[in-house]
Amino acid sequence: MTSFKDKIDKLNLPKHIAIIMDGNGRWAAERGYDRIFGHQNGVTSVREITEAAAEIGIEYLTLYAFSTENWSRPQAEVDALMELLIDTIENETPTLNKNNVRLMAIGDLTRLPGKAAEKLQRCIDQTSKNTGLSLVLALSYSSRWEITNSLKIISKEIEAGKLKTDDINDELISSFLTTKNIPDPDLMIRTSGEVRVSNFLLWQIAYTELYFTKTHWPAFRKEDFYQAILEFQHRERRFGK
Ligand code: IPE
Ligand code: IPE
Ligand code: MG
Repeated sequence: MTSFKDKIDKLNLPKHIAIIMDGNGRWAAERGYDRIFGHQNGVTSVREITEAAAEIGIEYLTLYAFSTENWSRPQAEVDALMELLIDTIENETPTLNKNNVRLMAIGDLTRLPGKAAEKLQRCIDQTSKNTGLSLVLALSYSSRWEITNSLKIISKEIEAGKLKTDDINDELISSFLTTKNIPDPDLMIRTSGEVRVSNFLLWQIAYTELYFTKTHWPAFRKEDFYQAILEFQHRERRFGK
């Protein structure tokens, strides 16, 4: 069987792919398990897709792992997700290094439990010299939080006389977001059949191609990822021109 991978044009790859990893709970429920089991299996997909992205030569892969709104889930689920985050980061650091992957994080990291923040920072430091794929984890992230936060910082700079109102433009705003220095996504994928953006990268996806699949995140595999890239390559991007 030929793989979608062989059909991908290596000279026209999306530079940055963002994924809303959704459907863990439903995937588990359909199999008679609790939601946590779905999150645990979602880690396998994270591993597979990170490897696929690194192999094929994607520069940035951003994964929406935990939203600002997700803090409102039952405490037991939040705790389980934070535990999973800690364990995964710890276990995967050697593999990230082996695959030349650099870990980054966006979001309000101050809200993470101390231990999670610590392990995260350690992995970021230990992979910071890698030059292959940049894997960006969105944690305690939401776009409205990010934009609100940037407005506060910009206002303070104006108050302090370091910036003038007339300095504010598209580029300046981008440079105050947590995604500064990361190019806007070319392709955004959402799994699980929901057709919405759920407060993810609202500013950054102005001209991003959107791709929705019914497959739940724990079932999402390399072939599904290649298929999304192939579909992207068949789109015509006009950027309003
Ligand atoms: C995505 O799966 C993972 C997180 C949001 C942390 P869900 O937990 O949202 O699973 P569903 O969408 O309820 O099936
Ligand atoms: C979006 O999924 C957040 C993440 C994937 C981390 P949700 O399951 O939280 O979003 P809604 O509630 O379906 O919009
Ligand atoms: Mg969901």
